Amino acid sequence: MTAREIILKKRDGQSLTESEISFFIQSYLRGEIADYQMSALLMAIYFQGMGFEETVTFTRIMRDSGEVVDFSHLPGSKVDKHSTGGVGDKVSLILAPLVAAAGVKVPMISGRGLGHTGGTLDKLESIPGFKTRLPLSRFKKQVEAIGTCLIGQTEEICPADRRIYAMRDATATVQSIPLICGSILSKKLAEGINALVLDVKVGNGAIFEEAGTAEELAAHLIRTATAFNLNTVALLTDMSQPLGVAAGNWVEVCEAIDVLQGRGPADTRQVTLALGAIMLRLAGKTKDYRSGMERLRVLLNNGVAWKKFLEIVQAQEGDVSFLENPAKYAVPKHRLEIKAESAGYLTAINAREIGRLSMLLGAGRQTVDDAIDYTAGMLIHKKVGDRVQNQEPLLTLQNSGQPPDQNFVQTVQRCFAIGSQPVTPPKLLHKLLDAHGVHAVAEFA
Ligand code: URA
Repeated sequence: MTAREIILKKRDGQSLTESEISFFIQSYLRGEIADYQMSALLMAIYFQGMGFEETVTFTRIMRDSGEVVDFSHLPGSKVDKHSTGGVGDKVSLILAPLVAAAGVKVPMISGRGLGHTGGTLDKLESIPGFKTRLPLSRFKKQVEAIGTCLIGQTEEICPADRRIYAMRDATATVQSIPLICGSILSKKLAEGINALVLDVKVGNGAIFEEAGTAEELAAHLIRTATAFNLNTVALLTDMSQPLGVAAGNWVEVCEAIDVLQGRGPADTRQVTLALGAIMLRLAGKTKDYRSGMERLRVLLNNGVAWKKFLEIVQAQEGDVSFLENPAKYAVPKHRLEIKAESAGYLTAINAREIGRLSMLLGAGRQTVDDAIDYTAGMLIHKKVGDRVQNQEPLLTLQNSGQPPDQNFVQTVQRCFAIGSQPVTPPKLLHKLLDAHGVHAVAEFA
């Protein structure tokens, strides 16, 4: 068996066997298959897809590239959440401490920014000192001791996804359902959880813009997870504009602090509470979503979730004084307001472009080795449906690298569409899917 033969087989639309997938991934991790051959296989999978059994096998081999954690000695359910990625999606930062504060264990393995979307690890690492690369033994101890730990893939856990995830971005192979299933579920299946909630984003800032394709992705993720007996629910949520008011890294941590202190933008709060209520129900802590949301609202408003967040940051060596006093943080060298050039109603925001421009400002990586400017990002002052006056600020850009030039500013300005007629803001929660089918989301109202 050679790498070339396997690439050729997939290129020509045939299914790969377990031994072929295993050979390819193991040889790649040992450095015996080159990056260009892995890139070719990824592109072949992108175009030819994978059958259901093949996707399950691929996911299992990705998971087994590292250790699989066993938390069966811990009483109660272990539940996690994963998002397919969006712009301004800081939900994990709030949800992990919030659900842990409600008494559910939340072992969480997250990813870095991918393309125009941000990544939980990069946001956490904007907190001075915060460590996302921890030995597995420490990950386990922290989940046992304080109920949650947020780490990334390492050499010990999901090394295959650690290597392939970054390459997918560079090879334009992110939008592939089997590759997404293998990437997301290998991380989640390695965490030792009993149940999972997926936040599948829909809209122009999501991996898949079209609602139909996003639903197809959700159904595939659930079907694949079910093959591993992982009880999984997916909530389809809006990504036709950035979530909340901040896109970047430290700016998103600040928004997460606001929500954890009982304030924050209504949309970020609503998505977090809905996902959290699903987690509580999956863990058997509540009978219905409404009571779960109410319980979580109390934990946000009484400071318990905030204290849990400080506990996590301290345990992972972050400097909590920056969280307690965000004004201590480095001030961005450049700040620029983008203003409306006409009056009317905000009819659309190009979230994908906002994410891409935010990455170019320094909040994300253009190549795997790029350093992140943690002060870089965008503060969004107007959302779809808002009334806008001429010259009113729509957005503030900030960074500490190269100052944005006029061309950049105009490109940001074009992300906002202003019309003369009022528009209804997009629906935030679209649909709920589980192994039994598709359900309405009225219960989260
Ligand atoms: N998030 C992941 O972890 N992997 C993907 O492929 C896409 C989003």
